[in-house]
Amino acid sequence: MKIIGIEHIGIAVKELKTDAPFWKHILGINHTNSEKVESEGVLTDIYDTGKGKVELLESLHPDSPVKKFLEKRGPGIHHVCFEVEDIYTSIKELKENNIQVISDNYTIGAEGYKVVFIHPKSTGGVLVELAEKPANS
Ligand code: CO
Repeated sequence: MKIIGIEHIGIAVKELKTDAPFWKHILGINHTNSEKVESEGVLTDIYDTGKGKVELLESLHPDSPVKKFLEKRGPGIHHVCFEVEDIYTSIKELKENNIQVISDNYTIGAEGYKVVFIHPKSTGGVLVELAEKPANS
């Protein structure tokens, strides 16, 4: 597969209201988007450094993966996302190499990206997201 770069780092927070100001006002990173991502059960707040984004994640449901993560591990780095050229090829290669992919196909993530998650069991302990940028953006 072809990795283009680190797209974003996903950070699980208890509440955007209390945690977003650090990223927005102290670090002064440009806030570019806020979005409900139903497929992941989260409200995201996206900050773009210009060379990789920070995606803050607040859980929308008591049974979302982010909520479960917060209960188990507490707030902190939830996943690392790499931009890929082609999500189809990437998923195919992962499966061919017996890498544990969380869903069989891509889902639509924040900002319309086609995304897939790789289980931490296959990566050395880190939830990894691969994302293909939507056309025309
Ligand atoms: Co993400």
